[in-house]
Amino acid sequence: MNVYLDYAATSPIREEVLKKMLPCLREEFGNPDSLHACGRRAAYLVTEARDKIAAVLGVRAREIYFTSGGTEADNWAVRSLAAGAPFAVSSIEHAAVIEAAKMRGEHALLPVDGAGRATLAGAEEALEGGAKLLALMAVNNETGVVQPVEAVYRAAHERGALLFCDGVQAGRSCNLKALTKCCDALSLSAHKLGGPKGTGLLWVRSGVKLAPLIAGGEQERALRGGTLNTAGIVGMAEALFLAQKEREEFSAHTRRLRDLFEAHILAALGGEARIDGAEAERAPNLLHITFARGGEWLLSALDLHGVCCSGGAACSAHAARPSHVLLAMGRSEEAAKRGVRFSFGGETTEKEAVFAAETAVGLLRAREE
Ligand SMILES: Cc1ncc(COP(=O)(O)O)c(C=O)c1O
Repeated sequence: MNVYLDYAATSPIREEVLKKMLPCLREEFGNPDSLHACGRRAAYLVTEARDKIAAVLGVRAREIYFTSGGTEADNWAVRSLAAGAPFAVSSIEHAAVIEAAKMRGEHALLPVDGAGRATLAGAEEALEGGAKLLALMAVNNETGVVQPVEAVYRAAHERGALLFCDGVQAGRSCNLKALTKCCDALSLSAHKLGGPKGTGLLWVRSGVKLAPLIAGGEQERALRGGTLNTAGIVGMAEALFLAQKEREEFSAHTRRLRDLFEAHILAALGGEARIDGAEAERAPNLLHITFARGGEWLLSALDLHGVCCSGGAACSAHAARPSHVLLAMGRSEEAAKRGVRFSFGGETTEKEAVFAAETAVGLLRAREE
């Protein structure tokens, strides 16, 4: 049996999404910036997609900037919002935010508690220190821990600062319309939601100044040049629409399988397995476990036995480095290398969840002997 439990890394494209995308690659292949009829039809499809996304997010269409994915949107926001002013990012952000912050310059790191939740006190300290931009993700991509975005947003606004939120892992289970009410900018990525890879967006509230990212074209209000990816944009609009429409059903399904998986592991391994972030509110589709006897060997063994999962973020999954998220939660370097992330999708079945849990238990028991 082969089981895919790495939906937080990427998800298969949905049929409904592909169906919307194919005509954009065939008949409606025009450049949306061309003035002739072929281009105008493509431009209409982009406008329709932008309007659809705006309705899903509860924002204005002209506040949406299409990008090549979550990484680009994160880089853009971190490097250009409140340009020149002091800023801070949470210590558990995705590498796209952490590395972009390093490129921008000196900054503070917002601490998290033992459950992997950013603390309000940490955000307040950064704001008191003069930070004019804070970055805090909605859902952590390793532990699935839901972050206190609303409280941090209020604290930031009281002091005239902006909040940028990476919403890449939140699109399946969180209400994005509510999320855009408590941040100034939000990044999203289509491929985490059953959409195509290489497509994302940055939403920036009207009135917030955004510096240009790519010169060379008038696209995206002349801030990000380059021919628009019509098929990707149309696909993302459909994926986002469906993900938000099916949010509750998806959450109930993945929560049931996640809990089943978790119960199986805990019943068999007890104290040998630690559910990371268990004390906090977690997104239902992500599960991170630190195994007492875990490590890189476990990921390889699971793979050999047909279970695809990861040690943390997919982009750093090959590095035998400790997880910066677990380190920020106060774990030792050694413990921070023993975690495994299992992430569930709408397609995951109970049989698959049980098979994967039993496989992990079997491998860990065999290691003990
Ligand atoms: C929280 C978070 N932000 C950003 C990204 C990057 O998104 P993309 O793969 O679209 O570049 C990811 C992907 O793993 C993520 O989990």
